[in-house]
Amino acid sequence: MPTEKRNRPRVLIPESDLERRLDELARQIDADYADCPELVCVGVLKGSVFFLVELLRRLEVPVVMDFLQASSYGSGTTPGEVRIRKDLELSVRGKDVLLVEDIVDTGYTLRTILDLLRWRGARSVKLCALLDKASRREVEVPIDYLGFPIDDVFVVGYGLDYDEKYRNLPYVGVLEGDL
Ligand code: XMP
Ligand code: MG
Repeated sequence: MPTEKRNRPRVLIPESDLERRLDELARQIDADYADCPELVCVGVLKGSVFFLVELLRRLEVPVVMDFLQASSYGSGTTPGEVRIRKDLELSVRGKDVLLVEDIVDTGYTLRTILDLLRWRGARSVKLCALLDKASRREVEVPIDYLGFPIDDVFVVGYGLDYDEKYRNLPYVGVLEGDL
């Protein structure tokens, strides 16, 4: 497809703002975990991958990395039902865990995952989210480290997708016009 025919999402958060905020978040996390021997960083697949990698590259606290994947059946008759599709490989028992997510929307996904990690005996669990659509929240989820609050718009890029596309955009954008 010729480049001019591609629908380029409108820039909502430019790459430079993302990089500056990542530097700030990493400094804050390093300070908060200064005495932590090993921070277990858990990315929620797939949307958090770009954010997780860029964040971890900036951290000085010793880290290990793992992933899990959840699927939500929130649009059907049982709102908030979340299933773990891919589980962690590492044990979190007795560990400090930093959960890394792309976006908090209704909160059901994160609520389920946070509860699971605590139930499995993590010493502490904190949440780092790139984006927060607070106006959409249905269950309370405290965000310990937040990149940016956003309005209720569908965003893509920097890991976020529309039908699996646009994840590799270097910025967070909004889709407009024909897809
Ligand atoms: P809940 O509602 O459980 O869901 O907080 C969070 C998940 O919903 C997806 N989500 C989005 N994905 N652009 C996306 O690409 C968006 O604007 C958006 N809003 C919600 C995302 O998978 C997130 O993990
Ligand atoms: Mg996601």
